[in-house]
Amino acid sequence: MNLESKIKLLPKDILSVIKKAGSLADSMDVHAYLVGGFVRDMLLRRPNLDLDIVIEARHREVEQARHREVGQAHHSEGVQMDGILFAEKLAEVLGARLIKHKRFGTAVLTLPNHKKIDIATARKETYARPGALPVVSGGSIYDDLLRRDFSINAMAVTISKHNFGKLSDYFSGIADLKRKRIRVLHSLSFADDPTRMLRAIRFGERYGFSLERKTLQLFKAARKEDALNKVTKHRLRDELILMLKEDRPLKVISSIRKLYGFSFIDTGIRLSGVKLDFLRKLNKAVMIFRKHHPKKRVLDSWLIFLIGLLDGLDLEAVKKICADFAFARGDTKRIVSYFDSHSEVIKRLSEKNIRPSSVYHLLEPLSFEVIVLIMAKQNKSDIIKKINEYLFVHNGIRLAVDGSDLKELGFVPGPHFKEMLVKALYAKIDKVVKDKNEEIKFIKEHGSRHIKT
Ligand code: CTP
Repeated sequence: MNLESKIKLLPKDILSVIKKAGSLADSMDVHAYLVGGFVRDMLLRRPNLDLDIVIEARHREVEQARHREVGQAHHSEGVQMDGILFAEKLAEVLGARLIKHKRFGTAVLTLPNHKKIDIATARKETYARPGALPVVSGGSIYDDLLRRDFSINAMAVTISKHNFGKLSDYFSGIADLKRKRIRVLHSLSFADDPTRMLRAIRFGERYGFSLERKTLQLFKAARKEDALNKVTKHRLRDELILMLKEDRPLKVISSIRKLYGFSFIDTGIRLSGVKLDFLRKLNKAVMIFRKHHPKKRVLDSWLIFLIGLLDGLDLEAVKKICADFAFARGDTKRIVSYFDSHSEVIKRLSEKNIRPSSVYHLLEPLSFEVIVLIMAKQNKSDIIKKINEYLFVHNGIRLAVDGSDLKELGFVPGPHFKEMLVKALYAKIDKVVKDKNEEIKFIKEHGSRHIKT
């Protein structure tokens, strides 16, 4: 099959990069292929901007054909450099930034428009034990596709001029795309890399595909062995984040529940009816926040759903999960702050006569993610009203006066400046002062002891 006509329909800037990469490969006498998710999504007509290119030295192809002819396994070490050399030249041609990972024979190019291109040398992988990182050696494009997770991700398209657009589909990926199924390439796939179980769930949900019969059996067998338990928590964390970043996280969560359960995060996580209801409310709250606050920072909704899943665990258990999975510092802070504060914040917000400035004081240190969680966590309309008043009116509010005004008024600079300005800000939130003159009057009255005599 030839995909030239499909490639030509890609956005112009991507097409131009592909053509330049192909010509460069010709001039360096290597084969260049588009691989992985880019090819899959092109065939599904879904936009995918992450170009993934594999470089194969020409002699590999000849060697591989010879090995196949005589039915020998293809063993070859070294030669990891073709992709790196290619990446260096392509970076020059495209004016891109380059990061090289020499040990793996891979590189990442960042184009001036911030798009990324992954470049790798065709390689072969063997796994010393389940869940371990693979041992990598040089290989042909066939070897490189054979090491991949699913048939739909194991197709390559030639971009060198000769044979431009030719699809290499050794494992019937096209047939599986048509039949909407996720199929591993060999029976040890999940044992080699159990994170593929999570990837299977993710792609299955994203494309509405099901696990092919044998693949499902292998999945269940790996589940029985609790294969994910053998994977480092860091890798599980990365997969979990990707899963929760999908467009329909609730669906992904139900698939995880159905196919594996949540023991790979923590055995204490239960998806009861109440929890499911909370997750649905979270989904709604995220959508409402996005709609009403398009100008505010984009929510990390994956973090909201993660906290939703963990909700019900105690603070110490949550802290341990954050440490074991090594979530980034800012993520850990947001996760822990929910467990640390939400009950108290909800209690305070339900006080009848709480002043707007006290609502501000409670909510201002919290991230928008935690605020959305608090909105979904309880049903009281007066609490929602108070939170909305904070989000729509008071979040981001500024005084008209600043430190330089205080100096001009004769105040001695010092840490009390902040204290005075916060007091004035709270007065503004509570509508005690309205304009700059009233702010100045308020500050003069309340800060008189700090004034120069
Ligand atoms: N891959 C694999 N096994 C893994 C991870 C990746 O075989 N555990 C291969 C697949 O061929 C995949 C490619 O590496 O297509 C690129 O990986 P990644 O960028 O994670 O996946 P994409 O398929 O591009 O998925 P997405 O659309 O989510 O970016």
